[in-house]
Amino acid sequence: MKALLLSGGSGTRLRPITHTSAKQLVPVANKPVLFYGLEAIADAGVTEVGIVVGDTAEEIREAVGDGSAFGLDITYIPQSAPLGLAHAVLIAREFLGDDDFVMYLGDNFVVGGITGLVDAFRAERPDAQIMLTRVADPAAFGVAELDAAGQVIALEEKPEHPKSDLALVGVYLFTPAIHEAVRSIEPSGRGELEITHAIQWLIDARRDVRSTTISGYWKDTGNVADMLEVNRSVLETLERRIDGEAEDCEIIGRVRIEAGARVTGSRIVGPAIIGADTVISDSYVGPFTSIAGDCRIDDSEIEYSIVLRGSSVSGVRRVEASLIGRNVEVTPAPRKPAAHRFVLGDHSKVQIAP
Ligand code: G1P
Repeated sequence: MKALLLSGGSGTRLRPITHTSAKQLVPVANKPVLFYGLEAIADAGVTEVGIVVGDTAEEIREAVGDGSAFGLDITYIPQSAPLGLAHAVLIAREFLGDDDFVMYLGDNFVVGGITGLVDAFRAERPDAQIMLTRVADPAAFGVAELDAAGQVIALEEKPEHPKSDLALVGVYLFTPAIHEAVRSIEPSGRGELEITHAIQWLIDARRDVRSTTISGYWKDTGNVADMLEVNRSVLETLERRIDGEAEDCEIIGRVRIEAGARVTGSRIVGPAIIGADTVISDSYVGPFTSIAGDCRIDDSEIEYSIVLRGSSVSGVRRVEASLIGRNVEVTPAPRKPAAHRFVLGDHSKVQIAP
């Protein structure tokens, strides 16, 4: 069994983290979302991984390398343009050979990994196995229609009028039966070869297509509340580990302080993670907070928040339920005049305490 990890895309800027070009590198608990996918694949016992890359190929290669850090053997497969998920399968034909494979979209996050799903597929080997999850905005996904027995009867890609709230999760298991399907379909209205159409082709050809409904699924749609929530759920699994320095501090519970970080005169209540080379002084960092590397938190209070690389928060209390991007500076306004002064990036959202 092999894995095909899709990490292409046109590199359009993502909301709300406007400076991230590869959406697969958005961090969850200080780790790119793509790495969780790679770990899930490795945990499921699959080692040969083809990564389909596009415009952001350099960033992806730089982050993942040859895969040895994950115990994986990686082959990069360049896709000349974002022509669709089924197109990715088409161009990966040589890499995939006649093996079964798991196709994993690199910006998708499945809490708890995919080992159970892969094991079940290995045991039963239907032609295709898809994963579904209930979502509030099905029109933004591929949507499945099931019959009374729970059998998938139809799939629609981003339907205007969804027939259910069951969205296709970006993890699919295939036997080589999918190759004929991806060769047989035509590009969709958005000009892409849709994997949804290829799976529909299998259904129409009366092949065995099965579905499992899962929970614990996340994908960045620009919704900060969702991002804080997935960050929280991953931090819940964190183990305490202090590799950096902590002096004159109170460190409670599951806190990770990475090597090179320095925490002084502060109270850190886990679960929380403090990235490498970050300096925290005279501050409170509360539960469910991820502070990336190279940040500075000084004389401040922050809780249930995400701070990305290179940012600083100084003299501010208190920051809650916030997402702070890269290289951001948060400081209090000078006393007079009592006015707020902002330099806010694209799509920013700010709530001011009265
Ligand atoms: C793709 C699939 C869609 C699926 C989604 C999950 O859409 O086409 O069916 O629900 O991934 O991430 P995309 O996000 O590439 O438009």
